[in-house]
Amino acid sequence: MMFFGPPFVLGGSSRAHLQVQSLSAGYGAFLVLRDLTLEIKPGLTVILGPNGAGKTTLLKALSGLIPRGGEVQLNGEALPEKTSDIVKGGMALVPEGRQLFPQMTVTENLELGGWLVGKAERARRLEQAFNDFPKLRERAEQLAGTMSGGEQQMVAVARAMMSAPRLLMLDEPSLGLAPRMVDELLAITRRIADNGTTVLMVEQNVKKALAVADRGYVLERGTLVASGPAALLARSTVIREAYLGAGAAGATTATSAAKTTVQAEPERVL
Ligand SMILES: Nc1ncnc2c1ncn2[C@@H]1O[C@H](COP(=O)(O)OP(=O)(O)OP(=O)(O)O)[C@@H](O)[C@H]1O
Ligand SMILES: [Mg+2]
Repeated sequence: MMFFGPPFVLGGSSRAHLQVQSLSAGYGAFLVLRDLTLEIKPGLTVILGPNGAGKTTLLKALSGLIPRGGEVQLNGEALPEKTSDIVKGGMALVPEGRQLFPQMTVTENLELGGWLVGKAERARRLEQAFNDFPKLRERAEQLAGTMSGGEQQMVAVARAMMSAPRLLMLDEPSLGLAPRMVDELLAITRRIADNGTTVLMVEQNVKKALAVADRGYVLERGTLVASGPAALLARSTVIREAYLGAGAAGATTATSAAKTTVQAEPERVL
């Protein structure tokens, strides 16, 4: 029998869904993540956790920037190993620190995000980026290095969107930004998720991140200590005592608090 048409219907059913099973990753002999199992469903998922927990390491491993062990599947298919193949498969990363080309204009930086597609499609996506980020259209010819931190972060997000990803990963997009700018960026990530791109975001701005996210995971020393719907996590002991509470919030407190809440998390995937 002949088969006509694409195997997947566009729209809801083609939204990116990442399944991560027994993931391990690190640097040389130093293993940061061990046996990490989580699921990034369509919508906005936030990864929380203290400094050094392995959040960036997780995004690097999922982007092919460092080797990984275990199984990762994107919509049921094994995730390739190489970064270029992962990008072709529809995953894009906005790295920590933005990593723009400061001596290039906003437009040139954005065009680099569309390197995989032809000129006409790249121009179409650039127009779309300027529609989605009107502030960047006004600054199209400005050198990226002369923009404010918040504006640069916006360029970094828009550049990642130029590859038309199915799954967008962001590493601490609000780092170092003023509160209003933080709100604006988190609203942008929410809008991206609502428009059908699955978003996986690492954030230290716990309260604000949980307010916009659908789900969250808390990572400590390379291990998951809690997970669940964002609204539930925001009320959980681990988050309230270790991240939102007054006073010192050390990793030890967070870990012990977590153990009491983990089993209450309905979406815990293990
Ligand atoms: N290139 C590297 N080489 C060796 N060790 C590294 C490297 N990058 C990170 N690490 C180590 O891996 C561990 C996890 O680091 P990672 O950057 O993933 O943490 P993080 O959760 O993103 O922290 P932060 O909130 O500070 O960004 C840390 O102990 C860190 O020192
Ligand atoms: Mg980090």
